[in-house]
Amino acid sequence: MRDTKKQITFVSNWKTNPGSEKEALVLLKQFTAELKKIKQKIIICVPTLFLPALAKEKSNVVALGLQNTAIEDIGAHTGEVSLAQATAYKVKHVIIGHSEVRALGETDELVNKKIKYAIKQKVTPIVCVGEKVRDDGHEYFGIITEQVIKAFAGVVKKDISAVLIAYEPVWAIGKDALRDATPEEFYEVKILIKKVLMDTYGLATKDIPQILYGGSVTEKNAKAFVTAGDADGFLIGRTSLDVKKSIILLNSI
Ligand code: PGA
Repeated sequence: MRDTKKQITFVSNWKTNPGSEKEALVLLKQFTAELKKIKQKIIICVPTLFLPALAKEKSNVVALGLQNTAIEDIGAHTGEVSLAQATAYKVKHVIIGHSEVRALGETDELVNKKIKYAIKQKVTPIVCVGEKVRDDGHEYFGIITEQVIKAFAGVVKKDISAVLIAYEPVWAIGKDALRDATPEEFYEVKILIKKVLMDTYGLATKDIPQILYGGSVTEKNAKAFVTAGDADGFLIGRTSLDVKKSIILLNSI
């Protein structure tokens, strides 16, 4: 199943962790040291407030990203940070449409605007999609289809090819997750997303962007998502705050 030459992408989502800049710096230094040993690169989407301090840590194994963005460089967007403000810190990736942000009212239309803005800023969007409930009637197919179609409305093919998509079933995310998703469940949705991008946006198979899995990824379950689920990588929350477990995870792939 797995193409062994395939490049696997690892994205960490630190969310609102850790509690201080000092702790964030310690964590980043530990990651850099361990990643160097195993010659592995990862993307870490950090709390924006810590970005200036973290960006001073020179690391060619960790690329820093944001967890959200405003929709334009400057303007009336209380509490939000734009990519123009963050590019001084060499941000190359931004998570867009995370379920925790959608839960606060972010719509598919806003997700679409943020994706277009990130592309304009030459920052790679990590676009999250996923259903809240996995129903026996397969309504989740329709929900994911709509999220994908609306996310990329008006985005040209070559730009869609260059994004990262993360399938994150909401019911499998975080400490209150109902259960782990299975690699087969991921694979089914990967095929659906591919089909939607081909049918709606005319993408050829070779131009399908990388499709990552996210939701309670651990050092114990990650490998199966690659081997049995054909995941192109991961968006990792809690496990990404634990250096030891993260290194075991990376080594397992
Ligand atoms: P989790 O979070 O790995 O802690 O479930 C994943 C995410 O929300 O991106």
